Amino acid sequence: MSIKYNEDSRIFELDTDNTSYRIGIADKEGFVGHIYYGQRIRSQKCDQFLRTWEGPFVPSENNRERCSFMDTFPVEYAGNGVGDYRESCIAVKNVNGSRTVDLTYKSHDIISGKPEIKGLPASFAGDEPVQTLVLHLTDKGVGIDVDLLYSVFEKEDVITRSVKVTNAGKTDVKLTKVYSACVDMDDEEFEMLTLHGSWARERQIERRKIAYGKQSVSSLRGESSHQDHPFMAWMTKNADQNTGDVYGMHFVYSGNFIAQIEKSQFDSIRAVMGIHSEGFEWLLTPGEEFDAPEVVLTYSHEGLGQMTRNLHDFYRNHMIRSRYLHTKRPVLINNWEATYFDFDTDKLLAIAKSAAEHGIEMLVMDDGWFGHRNDDATSLGDWFVNENKIKGGLKYLVDEVNKLGLKFGIWMEPEMISPDSELYRKHPDWALAVPERTATLSRNQYVLDLSRKEIRDYVYECVYNIISSANIAYVKWDMNRQLTDIGSTCFAGDRQGELMHRYVLGVYELQERLTKDFPDLLLENCSGGGARFDPGMLYYSPQIWCSDDTDAIERLSIQEGTELIYPLSTIGAHVSDCPNHTVGRTTPFMTRAHVALAGTFGYELDITKISDEERAMIPEQVVLYHKYNDLVREGDYYRIASYRENGEYDCYMVVAKDKSEALVTYVQVKGRPNVHSRKVKLSGLLADVDYRLEDTNEIYGGDLLMNAGMFMENMRGDYMSRLYHFVLDNTLT
Ligand code: GLA
Repeated sequence: MSIKYNEDSRIFELDTDNTSYRIGIADKEGFVGHIYYGQRIRSQKCDQFLRTWEGPFVPSENNRERCSFMDTFPVEYAGNGVGDYRESCIAVKNVNGSRTVDLTYKSHDIISGKPEIKGLPASFAGDEPVQTLVLHLTDKGVGIDVDLLYSVFEKEDVITRSVKVTNAGKTDVKLTKVYSACVDMDDEEFEMLTLHGSWARERQIERRKIAYGKQSVSSLRGESSHQDHPFMAWMTKNADQNTGDVYGMHFVYSGNFIAQIEKSQFDSIRAVMGIHSEGFEWLLTPGEEFDAPEVVLTYSHEGLGQMTRNLHDFYRNHMIRSRYLHTKRPVLINNWEATYFDFDTDKLLAIAKSAAEHGIEMLVMDDGWFGHRNDDATSLGDWFVNENKIKGGLKYLVDEVNKLGLKFGIWMEPEMISPDSELYRKHPDWALAVPERTATLSRNQYVLDLSRKEIRDYVYECVYNIISSANIAYVKWDMNRQLTDIGSTCFAGDRQGELMHRYVLGVYELQERLTKDFPDLLLENCSGGGARFDPGMLYYSPQIWCSDDTDAIERLSIQEGTELIYPLSTIGAHVSDCPNHTVGRTTPFMTRAHVALAGTFGYELDITKISDEERAMIPEQVVLYHKYNDLVREGDYYRIASYRENGEYDCYMVVAKDKSEALVTYVQVKGRPNVHSRKVKLSGLLADVDYRLEDTNEIYGGDLLMNAGMFMENMRGDYMSRLYHFVLDNTLT
């Protein structure tokens, strides 16, 4: 049993294999307070951490000092405007104009399993015995009930949280803020880690001291975004890959968010996460409910590396539903960087033919096959095949590609509309826009108003018809601009604040329908590269395009930040042509493959145009993919060294769950003259067994590799790389 309630002390005990979380009900009023989150502790009385013994602060005994109580009390979910001046979690505007919320305990349930969250992606129990605590809180004054849900995933050391607000009164209530989770604790000179970025530079790791006041990352772009990521960790100053206390908090959502840590006057911190409140409003009529998306919480006593492995296991076991999760994905070749918009059936078939001869398994036709789209200025919304380019039609092309032995995949950007499209000429009001204002174009396109059912139905029909018209095995679902001009003709003026969230719900509904109707379809999400790489999208697609930057060296830090929280099996990574189209760098063809092997693996180049020498290396690379992908996809990830930190080399490894093999990737970004070979210490192996290094047949003890280290080959030149594959010595003869 992972959840217990102690009636005497009124303490809820939530335990995973290695962590404990304690919640207490304080005082006669029933304030729900946070007692402890960290390394596993025994069941015991520990309500002193609620600090209600600090005499005068107890509200029931000293109501005139309520404020000093509220502003210090470690809460589970902060109300608003009643004395706690730290960040609130919920705010309302009720009929009398009041915004205050004061939540207290009403009752609770401990249930087995994990309830779904209607319309939203959320983790599931799968084969594990998950329990969920539902704390029923109420504010009688406002007339709302607030349920706090905690699900305990013992094996992965994860606790998920979400919130349901119900209008239990007789009048309308407008929610103006509903966060999903709050964690209060004493500061231990924690540092905060976030992932920052830009187009072609997604998820760069950033670490900073937590200062007094608020520090946050957020998105108001209608998607999780290139710029900030719906994730944060806080950790002790000494925390590195292997040591230190690390708390991770990750949002299962693909729209506007805030992730914030506030340090108070009393040296406590409050970490909150949820839908950003700016512009957000949601009307709840009597009896209606609002569900806030899920937050994933994890704690590691063994540094960032263990936090990473907790999250990897959690997403693989409890978030990704696709039947491709545990299978090798076909090695694909995508024509985007090969041809951009300039392609036709003949060109694609020539690429497919050569690809088939070199072991590639799927052709993906990217942007430009529909309407009259020969650049990015037209035709989004007109999802019918341009037969001037795709001569003979889509089915003919797909059949021909299939005859060559390749599967076929297709790119779509269903959420968008070009002003130059038949769809826009017919339905100009289908784009998000504010009346009397010229809507903002971005990449020459507008965003469809997915809050409207008839538009979602149209979009879905288009996607459905294309996929059903030929043997399509894969869809790359793209989203190439962020939201502006948040206005919909569908809702009354006072409900426009619901639009950003309704948009995200619309995307989820579409992808839910798609994955239900086409369970065999391999779906890859994408947004101008990796702007919608988040746990919410993983619920629908087992892989997400990581970045439009395919340069192997740039990818090292992009993939490092992504791997920090996402399993390698989810990371879209391809070998592209050089000089690289984004940064102009030329790297060895093999290095590009070694870096892409840490993801889904594929090619993004014109195979008919690269050098014979490079083309000849493709079969060898495909063999490497087939040899190592089971391990990369399912194994435990260890970050050994970071080029981002040391400026010279990168090193990471994946170890099989049963420790029987390990793959080390080493990238020597800069060659250095007259130095000893670099020595690195490996991780995650069994200490008391011997491993054999394939290639050389040398035998190394696991203890030696982890404590003394091993020498990396000193290669001549920049951007060189090598894989080292270790296997348990007794598995080979
Ligand atoms: C986005 C994607 C690219 C490509 C283009 C097509 O930028 O990230 O991979 O599909 O759109 O327009």
